[in-house]
Amino acid sequence: MSSGTARAYTNIALIKYWGKKDQALVLPMNNSLSLTLDAFYTETTVTFSDDFPADQFYLDEKLQDQKATAKISNFLDVLRDKHQVKQFATIKSQNFVPTAAGLASSASGLAALAGATSAALNLNLSSQELSRLARRGSGSASRSIYGGFAEWLQGTDDQTSYAVPIASDHWENELTMLFMIVDDQEKAVSSRDGMQRTVETSAFYQGWLDSVPHDLAKAKKAIHEKDFTALGEVTEASSLKMHGTTLAANPPFTYWSSESLRIMQFVQQLRAEGFACYSTMDAGPNVKILLERKNEEQLIATLKEKFPEKQLVVAHAGPGIEILTKEDVNP
Ligand code: ADP
Ligand code: DP6
Repeated sequence: MSSGTARAYTNIALIKYWGKKDQALVLPMNNSLSLTLDAFYTETTVTFSDDFPADQFYLDEKLQDQKATAKISNFLDVLRDKHQVKQFATIKSQNFVPTAAGLASSASGLAALAGATSAALNLNLSSQELSRLARRGSGSASRSIYGGFAEWLQGTDDQTSYAVPIASDHWENELTMLFMIVDDQEKAVSSRDGMQRTVETSAFYQGWLDSVPHDLAKAKKAIHEKDFTALGEVTEASSLKMHGTTLAANPPFTYWSSESLRIMQFVQQLRAEGFACYSTMDAGPNVKILLERKNEEQLIATLKEKFPEKQLVVAHAGPGIEILTKEDVNP
């Protein structure tokens, strides 16, 4: 019997990943750039044993059905095939983040799974190897290996597609991301299905793709120069463009609800009044707001007054993946 445990934090993309050029290998159509956050994370333990007759996957202490377990088994097979491991595994994972609600549980979940599995098999992987492995489970997970800012380099094959940290002189610690929770229930269209449908059918997809290199360069320059306005502008632009592609998909869809729109419009109004804050959204109706940490208290008070019924979560830059020993694990 061998066992490993890891904790990984979610990340939110400032320049979005939206679409794959290879489904099986999870190779993206474009580079993406993210900020790892401290508020949401996953802890996962993987145990391999000769005694297990099949893989068993528990999420939040509930035994998962065949479909959810098959996804995990497929991921484990990547390592089992490579390292001639014949044993089945029991996977126990705890999400300290709502699952499948557009709050990036797939990023923390699959990064933690990659870390726990490699620890259980004593693989001693480098961060780059771990990022490549996490990518096979979920693209955005490749970025959760690192704390702070990370860029996922799309690459051309399994070997060349992985995330790298972006040097920032700790500027990320001066930023805040506020999560306005509109709905934390599971969404109707997963990011995996949503992006595939968009790549295959959206008339706007090529426009999105063509715009990414410029946005990415602007984001990296903004981080280098600690230029919050430039980073905020490009963050909001990348999100709006990504969500624009879904409207032109067939069948069309959107992750926005009327509440999401209300919040995004309020963010724009605040900016017009001189308050620097910018919105971003993922595959779900929740809105994230990027701002400078020094303005955090003021914005929280304003948002609580405007949207008293909404749950608000405050996040700051979070650490990279942590391989845990028994003593570290929450009881
Ligand atoms: P989200 O916005 O939460 O990332 P996605 O639809 O992108 O939503 O991904 C949700 C999927 O990620 C789940 O259906 C499940 O397959 C996977 N996932 C989430 N949490 C975990 C976890 N802790 N361990 C393994 N897989 C997970
Ligand atoms: C909108 O990484 O969840 O959050 O690779 O199919 O598992 P798969 O998709 P996933 O997609 C994330 C999409 C996004 C943007 C982003 O995180 O870059």
